[in-house]
Formats: sequence, structure tokens, C-alpha cells
Amino acid sequence: MLEGNVLYGQSGGPSSAINASALGVILEAMEHKDVIHKIYMMHHGIVGAINDDIIDVTDEDVAELKKLRHTSGAYFGNVRYKLLDWKDSEKDYRKILKTLKKYNIRYFFYNGGNDSMDTCNKISTYLQKVGYECRVMGIPKTIDNDLPITDHTPGYGTSAKFIANSMIDIDLDNASYPQGRVIVVEIMGRHAGWLAASSALANLQGHGPDLIYVPEIPFEMDKFYADVDKVYQKKKRCLVAVSEGIVDKNGSFIFQVGKKVDAFGHLRLGGVCQVLSTNVADALGVNSVALELSFLQRGACRIASKVDIEEGEGVGREAVKRAIEGVSDKMIAITRLSSKPYKIEYTLADLSAVANYENKLPRDMINEEGNNVTEKFIEYAAPLIDGELDDTFTSGLIDVPHLKNYRPL
Ligand code: F6P
Repeated sequence: MLEGNVLYGQSGGPSSAINASALGVILEAMEHKDVIHKIYMMHHGIVGAINDDIIDVTDEDVAELKKLRHTSGAYFGNVRYKLLDWKDSEKDYRKILKTLKKYNIRYFFYNGGNDSMDTCNKISTYLQKVGYECRVMGIPKTIDNDLPITDHTPGYGTSAKFIANSMIDIDLDNASYPQGRVIVVEIMGRHAGWLAASSALANLQGHGPDLIYVPEIPFEMDKFYADVDKVYQKKKRCLVAVSEGIVDKNGSFIFQVGKKVDAFGHLRLGGVCQVLSTNVADALGVNSVALELSFLQRGACRIASKVDIEEGEGVGREAVKRAIEGVSDKMIAITRLSSKPYKIEYTLADLSAVANYENKLPRDMINEEGNNVTEKFIEYAAPLIDGELDDTFTSGLIDVPHLKNYRPL
């Protein structure tokens, strides 16, 4: 048995299930007091480990901690910070090692998407090089659902549920008028269309998008006008779901915010719905509205998917269990055993196989015309939005945890 303490960090964009994973790590660690003595959180992910900015949650009230299940954001602070390869510079790594030694960290958990698994992988190989015994585990999270190997990622189901239900509300509003509008709804997902595709689940209630555009299919403005026109002639309204990251045939974004990139080289997206809406209004002479779901879709705990949140907590717990058993350098993955009834098991993926790879929406989940999804996608996504949490609200407001050692910014 490797005795010592736990250090856990959140990284990348927030999601509705990341705090459930934090809770999973904390509660599971609390159940192994013979091995794990203290439970620490990095404040703002790896930057917290570099700067010795650590939050101790060992003695937090369990009832208060459990509210993390229905809490949006990244409660312990996230970060988008790219560690250089330690072969090029050991500066950050030496600081991280100092923090690990200071707090006797023997279990290191990093919760995030592709970029975060890269960070996790680098730390793991560095610790092996310097001979510091520590089990390093990745915990998956991203609303984008673009990690390879795992069937899906915690956070996706809740965002998908919010998006699908928002579509129903928007379409019912639009259908109220004798002459409806063309409404272009922009959905996150950067380079992958999983989230935009999830809008199609609303069609199970007869009020979903008529057209869906994803980054996997090159976008053509004239084809878009023709698609909208066809729907509008028939229905006198048209609901469009568009991924923030749609690209033209050369792979350039249809719209991006300036030229500035983040630490991982990602351009800032957001706003393409306005371009499409303005263009289609001009081209077809219709009344058009742009609607960007933006942060509302990744902080959607008020309409959480029970499946998603339980799996979020599940991957956190599993990471701790496996690490105590002796596993290291792996990410917990979700393997689907069946869709009807929905059944999964937790498996292991090599960190290096996950780091920096993006899993796109497969072609057979997109229709032939490239402007909607197929039944295969619906079968895949429907189970992920199922079930509701029942203890989210108090007096009509989200019951946010108040931890003794909570530190925003
Ligand atoms: O990676 C998750 C994600 O929510 C993407 O869908 C989106 O493009 C990006 O994060 C936005 O990140 P930020 O809010 O850090 O600019």
C-alpha cells in the first residue's frame, strides 16, 4: 500500500459534471483513511501546484461537499496552461515536485479534456524520471465530447440535455407566431459537432432543429441559404443549430474572435450565429434571429442529466480506487456495454493515447446532405441525457456549496 495524500486539479473549460468528479475523488479518498490522510485541491489546476496554491478539503462538511454534484463551473478553479516538455524546460516541473513533496502527495488526479491529459501525461513521465513515487491518473471531462477511447465524456450529457430542451423552448416560441422566424442557435464544441448534434434530440418531441451544421462538414453559405429556403417555404419558420466551429472547405473558421490564441493555440470562437443570421436575412428577405447559448450550456446543472452526473462522480471514484490498487498513468474511460438498457463499465486508457487527440462526430452519425444527424446519433446520445437530480434547489435557487476553504480567484 502506498500511503500518502491526494492532490486533485480541474483544467480546461468548466462543465456541469466536473464538480461531481471532484466530489467522487474526495468521497472515495475519505473512505480509505488507512492509505490517504489528507485531501488537497489545486487552486486553478496545475498553476496551483506550481505556485503552492493548495486547498485542503480533508475536514470539509460532507453534506456541504455533496452539493458539488449540482454545481456548475470548476469549483476549485480551472486553468488553460500548457506545460512545456520537461526535456525542454524543467522549471515548472521542479516547482510541482516541490509541492508534491511538501504535501506528501502520492496520488495525483487531473480532471479535464485532451489538453489536460497532455499535462497529466507530462507530469507522470517527469515523476518517473526523477523517481518520485506517485500514482498519476486522468479523469475525463469535456462538454465537447471529443476525447478518444472513452464512449463519451462526463459533462456532455448535461450540456446536451440543456441544448435539446432549449431547442424545444425556442421552437415553441417561434411556432407561436403566424409567420415564424429563421432562428440560428449557436452551440459550443470548437472542432467537434457532438454538442450541436445533440440539439436533434429535441426532435423526439417534434420541436427540434430543421438544420444542423457541424465542423466535420465544410460549410457553404449558398447551400445554407438554399437549405433554409426549402424549410421556410414549407413551415414558415426554420430552426438552425450551428456549431461555433464550422469551417469552410479550406478548414478556416466561418467566424472567429480576432486572431489571439490561448496557451494551446486555440482561437476564440463565438458569434458565427450572428453572421449566418444576418446573411440569411439579407439573402432571403426573412426575419432572422441569432442566439448564442454560450456559457449557459456548460453551466447547466439546473437541468442536469442524472446519468451524466452519476458518471461524473463515478469516474472520480474509480480513479481513486484504481490508483490505490496500484494503477498509474491512465485515464478512466467509459465503455458502453449496451444502449437499451443503457449500461456502462469503467475501463482504463493510456494517457498518451488520449493526450491531444480530438474525436470527431463520425460520418455515419451525420446525414448524407451534411445538414442533420442520423438515427445512429440519436440512439447514441439519447441515454446520456436521462434522469433528473432531485436536490438541486433551495427556495427556488441552486443550493451552492459553501466550503470553509473555498477561494474564488
Ligand atoms: O473546451 C470546452 C469549451 O467549452 C469549448 O466548447 C469552447 O470552444 C471553449 O471551451 C471555450 O473556452 P473559454 O471559455 O475558455 O474561451
